Amino acid sequence: MTSTLTKNSKLIAWVEEVAKMCQPAKVHWCDGSEAEYRTLCDEMVKSGTFIRLNEKLRPGCFLARSHPSDVARVEDRTYICARTKDEAGPTNNWTDPVAMKQKLKAMFTGCMRGRTLYVIPFSMGPLGSPVAKIGMEVTDSPYVVVNMRIMTRMGKAVLEALGNGDFIPCLHSVGAPLKPGQKDVAWPCEPDPANKYIVHFPDEPSIWSYGSGYGGNALLGKKCLALRIASVMARKEGWMAEHMLILALTSPPGKKHYVAAAFPSACGKTNLAMMRPALPGWMVRCLGDDIAWMRKGDDGRLYAVNPEYGFFGVAPGTSAQSNPNAMATITKNTIFTNVALTPEGDIWWEDMGVPAPAKMIDWEGQEWTPDCGRKAAHPNARFTSPASQCPVIDPDWEKPEGVPIDAFMFGGRRPCTIPLVNEAFSWEPGVFMGSSTGSETTAAALGKAGVLRRDPFAMLPFCGYHMGDYFAHWLSMADRGDRSKLPKIFFVNWFRKNAQGKWLWPGYGDNSRVLKWICERVEGAGKAVKTPIGNLPTAEALDISGTSVSAEDLQELLSVDAAGWRSELDNITQYYATFGDRMPARLKQELEGLRARLGQAQCHKGQRPGNVL
Ligand code: OXD
Ligand code: MN
Repeated sequence: MTSTLTKNSKLIAWVEEVAKMCQPAKVHWCDGSEAEYRTLCDEMVKSGTFIRLNEKLRPGCFLARSHPSDVARVEDRTYICARTKDEAGPTNNWTDPVAMKQKLKAMFTGCMRGRTLYVIPFSMGPLGSPVAKIGMEVTDSPYVVVNMRIMTRMGKAVLEALGNGDFIPCLHSVGAPLKPGQKDVAWPCEPDPANKYIVHFPDEPSIWSYGSGYGGNALLGKKCLALRIASVMARKEGWMAEHMLILALTSPPGKKHYVAAAFPSACGKTNLAMMRPALPGWMVRCLGDDIAWMRKGDDGRLYAVNPEYGFFGVAPGTSAQSNPNAMATITKNTIFTNVALTPEGDIWWEDMGVPAPAKMIDWEGQEWTPDCGRKAAHPNARFTSPASQCPVIDPDWEKPEGVPIDAFMFGGRRPCTIPLVNEAFSWEPGVFMGSSTGSETTAAALGKAGVLRRDPFAMLPFCGYHMGDYFAHWLSMADRGDRSKLPKIFFVNWFRKNAQGKWLWPGYGDNSRVLKWICERVEGAGKAVKTPIGNLPTAEALDISGTSVSAEDLQELLSVDAAGWRSELDNITQYYATFGDRMPARLKQELEGLRARLGQAQCHKGQRPGNVL
């Protein structure tokens, strides 16, 4: 059971204690080598968990099909077990940590019988970076091991970097012990949703996850450690752990700006992060598609690091049109989960931009034909792919100290009211924008699709403490140091529709037009109109040359719909009330200030009262 790879006594003792409780048949310490990865993949091909894809079409790629009950993050089964319910706040499920630990210990007892316990040393952040955090995931799922090898820096080198230091224990089990002689299934898990538990103990800190083998429920470095646990650490230590992509935009003369952007799940974050700009001469480079850890540097600017090593992207909708760079990234060494299998041994999903073959095997392993009335891929089907394979990965993406952020963007799927782009007057109105972010729901999380869900800073499922305190933490970033060094804040909305329900903005590569204006504003150029809600581009300031966007559509995209905003503000007022007395007064003042400005302006749909700046 002990390892030749480490002498870390705390780690050895923890693994022994966990093994005693979970009673696995074997213990395997992962070294993170290519050989280990191949062996595990081969074993999973034999056991039926993996299907090897056609080596000529998708070299080094595999397809996994999950149990139909295990297809997404389970927010209703995710807990923040802080000392008190109030610390966890109204947006998190909470149970007393002592009671929860007792319950989990009973569930984990014997839960790995007949299985191998894998110890996965992993680093969130470049190895040896001063901002990196080391976690140890113990799991009984080889699928988790191989996915963690893509999504994190993992194995022997992490143990070396750890030495005798501290780590964050992350315990995971699929919750499906095997009786002697019992045949395993392709995707073992606990099928009863009520028996799945994704539990965070922020005060220890540690993570215990039971019953699911899927995505953020099981790859514990991602949402659990790098967001929920890290957000608590960040608040204590004065930094930020955010659900943000990081990209670099370079203008034709070669000026480079770094932008971090928060969008609720499945708003096209991965597409934006590695976008191919429609604007000639502009270049986007990707540093991360999901998470940003940011600290103030000695020069007072905010520096961002992507703690991850791979992309865990939503497959359906990814195409040569929506994301050519993702399509190039996933040509090799990629694990696909819950997509369809073509007769040639390749993969397919809805809106992939290629016609569906006449016959396929769908994500549930059933025969599929175009007229069968079912989706071939699950809407939350995923690819797990190394970031280093992205053709537009930024050369600085592994810089230990990160890159300086010039602008923050928030956004969501908002069919009405919210303009295409809006610049906050300053930090506090920007924090107001982030706190009131909302989006129409999609399939990344379980629940009803197509309803407006407030998702502050896109952190609703990922903030590990009281949301009111999180808002205060954001505000406090301007109280330390020179506030003029902080990123400018913008709100964008690619999803505005006209009265006929048609998208007003082409999106995808054309979003570079909005990024261009943002960078011009950062540089102190770029024309804007000061309106009650923020600074909007003048019609001429946004470069729409070569698009099919009409002057009327542009006007609608950049208009201030006062009536729409009033009901928006009523809705935000109600939302703020849910945070009680932990809701910062400064944000309530922002809300009231905006209400007053809207009242005075008497603006109507299609109009933009204000002065050109
Ligand atoms: C994700 C999510 O999987 O945000 O990245 O749901
Ligand atoms: Mn995400």
